[in-house]
Amino acid sequence: EKQGFKHFMLKEIHEQPGVVRANLEAYFRNDVNPGESPINLGLPTELYNDLEQIHILACGTSWHAALIGKYLIEQLAGISTQVHYASEYRYAPPPLTANTLIIGVTQSGETADTLAALAMEKERRQGKEPKYQARLLGITNRPESSLGHMVPHIISTLAGIEIGVAATKTFVAQLMAFYALALDLADRRQTVAPEKIAEIINSLRQIPKEIEATLESQERLTEQLAHEFAETQDFIFLGRGINFPIALEGALKLKEISYIHAEGYPAGEMKHGPIALLDAKVPVVAIAVPGTVYEKVISNAQEAKARDSRLIGVTPVNDGEAAEIFNDLLPVSHVDELLSPILAVVPLQLLAYHIAARRGLDVDQPRNLAKSVTVE
Ligand code: F6R
Repeated sequence: EKQGFKHFMLKEIHEQPGVVRANLEAYFRNDVNPGESPINLGLPTELYNDLEQIHILACGTSWHAALIGKYLIEQLAGISTQVHYASEYRYAPPPLTANTLIIGVTQSGETADTLAALAMEKERRQGKEPKYQARLLGITNRPESSLGHMVPHIISTLAGIEIGVAATKTFVAQLMAFYALALDLADRRQTVAPEKIAEIINSLRQIPKEIEATLESQERLTEQLAHEFAETQDFIFLGRGINFPIALEGALKLKEISYIHAEGYPAGEMKHGPIALLDAKVPVVAIAVPGTVYEKVISNAQEAKARDSRLIGVTPVNDGEAAEIFNDLLPVSHVDELLSPILAVVPLQLLAYHIAARRGLDVDQPRNLAKSVTVE
């Protein structure tokens, strides 16, 4: 059932183009008549009416997807959005706000902290005036889960069952859910012109073949790099803006399956402390894609290089400037910055996978970890 792949994780990484295709088909309409929405989430207007705020509750990789969701919702739909660790939110919820959408993100639908945070939110809003009523939405890969029974509305992420403990294809599917949600909100609130929305959806439709191209070109490159980094003890991942959460995700993937210490940082924070860690023994992976913070990331990466760190760049192919700075390149196609996280994460998943596999570790069942964390 691994279909020729050595581990489920690798198989699931390779399933990502198909997962994105399934989400595209489910979330977006093909031929829309004028005035008809191209987004098809089937969510009722009561959920969206007069929205003033959004809180997203999640853990782990789902929390990283939520951070990208926040970026998309704020930039496209202009709604103030906060992302919380469910385990923190439970015991220190922010003051009750009116007209607030609460989104729980959990691929398994069984994560105890996420469920408990949602239950707490539901309970504290009970019996309050209408504007304080709970508006709950779940994003999950298992609509039949406990989450599915707890919240009235679900966006189903359609990744198919994920066996590897490290989340890969379910993360990419969660990103797709957030693209659809942010675009739906932008469409209803008219914060983005319909032509621009159509353009973003068209670009999303190109993503499956871009992931395929990335997988094809990166498999060998990441395997070679893994060979060199199998004994490395610390890694730093840098990103900014919409790709800061991808730095966090790259570091988490590496930690959990290879047991190598890794940290993800917003690149601009390096000089406020972490830069003291850097030397020739600590490689730095920088996600540098054209857009609002491109030059900034490049200059942060240069600062790391000046401390003798080996620099690995996740950056578009044929980029002359980037190619000169980085010691190694993990090239991705040049796409709209808003869509770049979904491509940038792929080489980082492969890098983590190949390093762990080279170290001879049990990639699909890392020590101390469970696929769903049903205890607090
Ligand atoms: C990372 C990983 C975990 C989960 C976290 C939340 O690869 O798998 O960090 O993302 O335990 O799980 P769900 O999404 O099921 O709530």
